[in-house]
Amino acid sequence: MTYHVPFLKKAYSDSYKLAGAELGVFEGEGAVRLCNQLQFSILYLVDPYLLHKGYDGYSGYDQAEWNNIEERMKKALHIDDTGIGVCNGQRVKHLKMMSVDAAKTIDDAALDFVYIDANHAYEYVKLDLETWYDKVKPGGWVMGHDWPYPTVQQAVNEFMAARNIHFHPDSGQLHGTHDWWFRR
Ligand SMILES: C[S@@+](CC[C@H](N)C(=O)[O-])C[C@H]1O[C@@H](n2cnc3c(N)ncnc32)[C@H](O)[C@@H]1O
Repeated sequence: MTYHVPFLKKAYSDSYKLAGAELGVFEGEGAVRLCNQLQFSILYLVDPYLLHKGYDGYSGYDQAEWNNIEERMKKALHIDDTGIGVCNGQRVKHLKMMSVDAAKTIDDAALDFVYIDANHAYEYVKLDLETWYDKVKPGGWVMGHDWPYPTVQQAVNEFMAARNIHFHPDSGQLHGTHDWWFRR
């Protein structure tokens, strides 16, 4: 269960159309939940589905398995071969690339939130924070998953300390969940 969804639902009115990005999509379970519960002008779904050096998540999977996972994600979110889809009435776009490269395709201050759930190694979480922070509008939300990973905690804590940012009082991990977030 991810707790950023009810938080966003509470933070925005039902008629507001969010622009958001999920970094690391896997089979699309979290993305479908976002589409089922929130309104979007656009939800960017960033995942290369690539067996690559530097990523040890799902370490037993070969490239054929990643291709299958991508297909399952596209089916779940009704995404066609151009990468565009409509899931529960919400416009989604698959960016089949590394999160650091996908950030280059998004304007600064374009998003209401980013949800970081890609490579959980320290260097990658740090890079995701550094490259995606400016993509979020001032007042928007920088969010992520898997707070129990020491690597996630280190990268997030360092990033926030350097900028004197504090967690929102409703932030998931402060209430015992695995999601965390702070205001941009
Ligand atoms: C923990 S899963 C994501 C789960 C998903 N957010 C959900 O709610 O079901 C991590 C995903 O991150 C992707 N990934 C790994 N490195 C990445 C990177 N550098 N940029 C974007 N995605 C990456 C993997 O392909 C994998 O599908």
